[in-house]
Amino acid sequence: MRPFVSIGLIVIVGLLAAVLTGFRTDLLFGSRGYDEEQEGLKQRIVIKFSHVVAENTPKGLAAERFAKLVREKTNGRVEVQVFPNGILYSDTTEIPALLDGEIQMIAPAFSMLSNVIPAWSVMDLPYAFRDQQDVEKAFQGEIGKKLFQTLESRNMKGLAFWRNGFKQMTSRKPIRTLDDFAGQRFRIMQSKVLETQFRTLHATPVSMPFNEVFPNLEKGLADGGENTISNIYSKRLYQVQKYMTISNHGYLGYAVIMNESFWNKLPPDIQAKIMEAMEETTAWNYQTALAMNDSQLKLLKERTDLQIHVLTPEEKAQWQQALQPVYAAHAEAIGKELMTSLEQLRKQR
Ligand code: LMR
Repeated sequence: MRPFVSIGLIVIVGLLAAVLTGFRTDLLFGSRGYDEEQEGLKQRIVIKFSHVVAENTPKGLAAERFAKLVREKTNGRVEVQVFPNGILYSDTTEIPALLDGEIQMIAPAFSMLSNVIPAWSVMDLPYAFRDQQDVEKAFQGEIGKKLFQTLESRNMKGLAFWRNGFKQMTSRKPIRTLDDFAGQRFRIMQSKVLETQFRTLHATPVSMPFNEVFPNLEKGLADGGENTISNIYSKRLYQVQKYMTISNHGYLGYAVIMNESFWNKLPPDIQAKIMEAMEETTAWNYQTALAMNDSQLKLLKERTDLQIHVLTPEEKAQWQQALQPVYAAHAEAIGKELMTSLEQLRKQR
């Protein structure tokens, strides 16, 4: 009986205390814990971050990591809500949604940005970058600086460049020589340079949003496409494409952007924490993107339903030569300064 008596006594004393204080827990337990939580709730800042790829990709993982770092660095005051796989907006609708303030953050592929600001087409030029080192020079040098400047007058705040990787060709038919492109329909991201690229190869470009690629390839609405290893792997495109050619003919990367009016309204201490989280995420994204594309290429090589051909140096030289006219066709839209910066970058080493 004794334990029941003690419990009863504790309950009665607790109730009495609550009645005397008008059920004000702050008077009982001190005001800090109670008030802080309520303040935090009112002041919580939500950043909706929409993207179109799977979670298990360089961009998907970077978005999650950024959200975690922001939450930790701001003690939960800022919540980054990540919407992957195009569940909120597709790659064609996410830029207008950002500008309208429906969402606060996106990380579109350069190709998508080039539809709004043609200067970004420079990043889509075939064989613009020989390797990741060239890409890094572009991000950190004159090209990156000039491209970020173009965002300023468009209500977009450029936060970072994130990597995915070099693009490879996939198709229902083998692609090895330039003649193999003729008559085939290739899915592209909406981009004028990519359109010219495939027309130059006597193929037909068909633009479609990323989340429609698998079903449309399955339906036969396109014969092939170009994408990074991680996108091909995570979207299981090998189930609808029998052949892949390692061509490294273009680079797929992202500009991480926030709605600028939203950014400007954030308190300076929060802006600083967000930038800190972004820098850490971007450094991590560099390692992750390279590692993922490498390890997933190994997994693709193990598949018996996908034939992989690696372009020989001679074949690559032929492709590069054949795609040269794409530069002249887009030089004016890209602008002299950026074209010169790209030329200089390629002269280094
Ligand atoms: C694509 O549409 O193929 C890619 O841009 C998707 C992405 O964002 O990586």
